Amino acid sequence: MIGIIGGTGIYEIVEMGDRIETRVIETPYGKSPEINIFKLNDKDVAFMPRHAKGHEYPPHMINYRANLYAMGQLGVQRIIATNAVGSLEISIKPGDFLVPNDFLDFTKLRQSTFYDKKTVHIDITEPYCHDLRNYLISAGDVVDKGVYVCTEGPRFETAAEIKMFKQLGGSVVGMTGIPEAILARELQICYASVCMVSNYAASISPTKLTIKEVFEIVEDKKEDLVNLIYNAIARTPAERECPCKYALVGAEVDEV
Ligand code: HPA
Repeated sequence: MIGIIGGTGIYEIVEMGDRIETRVIETPYGKSPEINIFKLNDKDVAFMPRHAKGHEYPPHMINYRANLYAMGQLGVQRIIATNAVGSLEISIKPGDFLVPNDFLDFTKLRQSTFYDKKTVHIDITEPYCHDLRNYLISAGDVVDKGVYVCTEGPRFETAAEIKMFKQLGGSVVGMTGIPEAILARELQICYASVCMVSNYAASISPTKLTIKEVFEIVEDKKEDLVNLIYNAIARTPAERECPCKYALVGAEVDEV
């Protein structure tokens, strides 16, 4: 099964398939949001609205562990995530899509591991699945790499923070990509993200940032985003050949 963890603007993908069922999964971390399971051509797809229905949970309050664990329970082996981001580069414009190849984690308060009772250090040198990224890159018009900076939010950034992120090699900044990518790796699930650039980041943007402009771009681009994901899923073969499914091999301390 292929999972989609969607921010706003991607809920329509569910309408492109044949609906099977809606499920809420109980996990040791709490309940998942309502997950729509549907068939897209010959593939089973599970769509999870990251913020739950109606944007209930702001980025720092999302129960990332329950969300990812629920996907694992459903037998999801690959996750395509969508994330709204601000751009740190003039050449990466509002309305563009970017498939990140790395991240910088500036979150502060999130539970970013399933392993609180035993010591597990997963390798995350290449945090996004190489193969899944390639299906997305070949599925449409996207910026094919970039460094995703994740902040704690929910506030936007200061001018000095944006300057620092740029100097550190960041390309785009958002609030929801981490710890999803990390938790997916701990579950040995392939994970890739399509970032939708909704604005230039603070101080690069000539005007005050408003959530209205973020939602306007998302609304404008949602059809393209749905098509991109639809095409990427069509390109995804049944079997995984990437190393993601072995992420825990050599990661557990009591194995050493
Ligand atoms: N900063 C952080 N998160 C965001 C932004 C931004 O500029 N735009 C959309 N999500």
